[in-house]
Amino acid sequence: MPDLTTTLGRLRLANPIILASGTVGYGREYASLIDYSTVGAIVTKTITREARAGNAPPRLKETPGGLLNAIGLENVGVDRFLSEKLREAATVPSALIASVAGGSVDEYAELTRAVASREEIDAIELNISCPNVERARRPVWDDPEAVGTIVRAARNATEKTLLLKLSPNTADIVSVAEAGEEAGADALVVANTLTGMRIDVEARKPSLGNATGGLSGRALLPVNLANVWKITGAVSIPIVGSGGIADPDDALEYILAGAAAVQVGTALFADPGAPGRIAAGLADYMQRHDIESIEECTGLARKEKEREWQRTTAG
Ligand SMILES: Cc1cc2nc3c(=O)[nH]c(=O)nc-3n(C[C@H](O)[C@H](O)[C@H](O)COP(=O)(O)O)c2cc1C
Repeated sequence: MPDLTTTLGRLRLANPIILASGTVGYGREYASLIDYSTVGAIVTKTITREARAGNAPPRLKETPGGLLNAIGLENVGVDRFLSEKLREAATVPSALIASVAGGSVDEYAELTRAVASREEIDAIELNISCPNVERARRPVWDDPEAVGTIVRAARNATEKTLLLKLSPNTADIVSVAEAGEEAGADALVVANTLTGMRIDVEARKPSLGNATGGLSGRALLPVNLANVWKITGAVSIPIVGSGGIADPDDALEYILAGAAAVQVGTALFADPGAPGRIAAGLADYMQRHDIESIEECTGLARKEKEREWQRTTAG
């Protein structure tokens, strides 16, 4: 059996498949559908300091090859998360990653400290793709300096593994990735959803209550795969690929591009068995190609391309 274990900072995962934030609630909701023995970790729904009701409906709109969502970070708030939801989440046998989003740098530090103090939580994922963060010039996810400040504050609040989840809604994701690494992130999640919208032509208004939303699912795969490719050339911390993964080959594309782990989200809605299928498919591929570990598999396409570039330059 090939070795499917992978490491993100201090966190060792039994396999590289992580369930993405916002797509499995607090884990328990899916317990009867998902075989958690095939899942390395789950990321709980992003929590904020105060509870949030989220955006006006409709919040979901299917589009060819993908899904648009504008949930608006509906969540129970940190106090109820810690007193109530965490107990449910901790019954899931996979590692537990808590996702947090602050409205300010101090709030990011406060939320990180609060969740990291609980032994049930193995790692913290910083969601910077959130609305309403105190920023004057531009969105926080598009501002390497602001991202660095947030990560540094969170880093000072915990020694547990810190994942930084990037947004593809920026022209220069590599600079944001570099700022995150420099500020102390242990791993980068590449990446969140891409802004999109649809319009209901009969009603003559946007299909989503919030007008715009985040595009996830298959249509997002080539975009975030290219982001992984660009970032792996620039940073040395592990990368978690995310966006449109539904089959073993999708996960493999991210791993071959340089990811040490992957996240699965939207695919769960159509097929809760996807993580098990993907884990089995990865093992089968590695066996067929005599690859012993995920570590050995990570970045093979990049290495191949570098050899080709070298040959071209030498020739
Ligand atoms: C309904 C829905 C809710 C989501 N909520 C969150 C969230 O709370 N926090 C977050 O970081 N990402 C959230 N995401 C983004 C996913 O975690 C994931 O990064 C994105 O959907 C891309 O992966 P996928 O194509 O496999 O779904 C959400 C996605 C969907 C579809």
